[in-house]
Amino acid sequence: MTQAFETSERAGGAGSPPDRNLAMELVRVTEAAAMGAGRWIGRGDKNAADQAAVDAMRLMLGTVQMDGIVVIGEGEKDEAPMLFNGESIGSGFGPAVDVAVDPLEGTRLTALGQQNAISVIAVAERGTLFFPDAALYMDKIATGPDAADAIDIDATPEENVRNVAEAKNKSPRDVSVIVLERDRHEQLIADLRGAGARVTLIRDGDVAPAIAAAHVGIAEVDLLMGVGGTPEGVIAAAAIKCLGGALQGRLWPRNDEERQRLVDHGYEIERVLTTDDLVAGDDVFVAATGVTSGALLRGVRYTRDGAVTESMVMRSRSGTVRRVEAEHAFAKLSRLSGLEYR
Ligand code: FBP
Repeated sequence: MTQAFETSERAGGAGSPPDRNLAMELVRVTEAAAMGAGRWIGRGDKNAADQAAVDAMRLMLGTVQMDGIVVIGEGEKDEAPMLFNGESIGSGFGPAVDVAVDPLEGTRLTALGQQNAISVIAVAERGTLFFPDAALYMDKIATGPDAADAIDIDATPEENVRNVAEAKNKSPRDVSVIVLERDRHEQLIADLRGAGARVTLIRDGDVAPAIAAAHVGIAEVDLLMGVGGTPEGVIAAAAIKCLGGALQGRLWPRNDEERQRLVDHGYEIERVLTTDDLVAGDDVFVAATGVTSGALLRGVRYTRDGAVTESMVMRSRSGTVRRVEAEHAFAKLSRLSGLEYR
């Protein structure tokens, strides 16, 4: 064994050279899922789109050198096809990790040909990702590094807008907040508008806007606010851990029965969950690929011979964020894999 290999094998601590970046492999997984789902854009069938993404993701996951356990799979909420919680994924060799997947975040967006659907995966050291279990929904607020200390889920929407505006040295009128268009957000939307903020309502998919809010390069989004899925909150927190910024959440049971289930499962319902509570590890990898275009990523574009995808690849420890544009040649991929790419 050479000295260089020995060094990189135990790398990762202070003074050692950078070690393996798992996210560089994970991006092939989200690319595959995005291309699977991409063929269903605008075809009105969200379950088929989700199934195509899951199938493609599952196949590619086997190639990643890791001993992964799915902590967050997608689908329980709406009985979509899923990578099951507790399922072992990856090659079975390599680092022991928790895996959170959302093969298609924005199934309806894809079916309706609307913006912001992505495929995303987050990986962190074993035992460090928050397990949502019975906690389907969470109230969230997320922003980027320059306003990370300005947000407070316990403050009013007006206070948050004012504090974020101050932190970003802009007027509240120029603070842009993304909110899921739901009846439950009527008061939040009114309060945000009352505070002078610009509110953009989205039909679905709150992961991409949370990442966009944390990304200093995307000036159009300052905040994500409101109640959405807990699994999506954990995935967004993983990306924010890589990008800098903050996400705060609080579990949001829809009724007494859900509340009781959470209590029975040992969750503290009133507790504010920080980025570190949701993602406790400090070696976090995230890859995301656009399915339909949005502020964060371009969607899958089909060419005569294949497809072009755009992805983000992030790692918390190094802080490196890469954008990867990939050209996929379907004839070659089909020959190589024995699978049908089209
Ligand atoms: P899909 O599972 O269909 O991809 O929808 C995702 C999503 O819009 C999330 O982005 C969001 O957190 C959650 O669903 C909101 O849940 P609901 O639609 O039940 O309000």
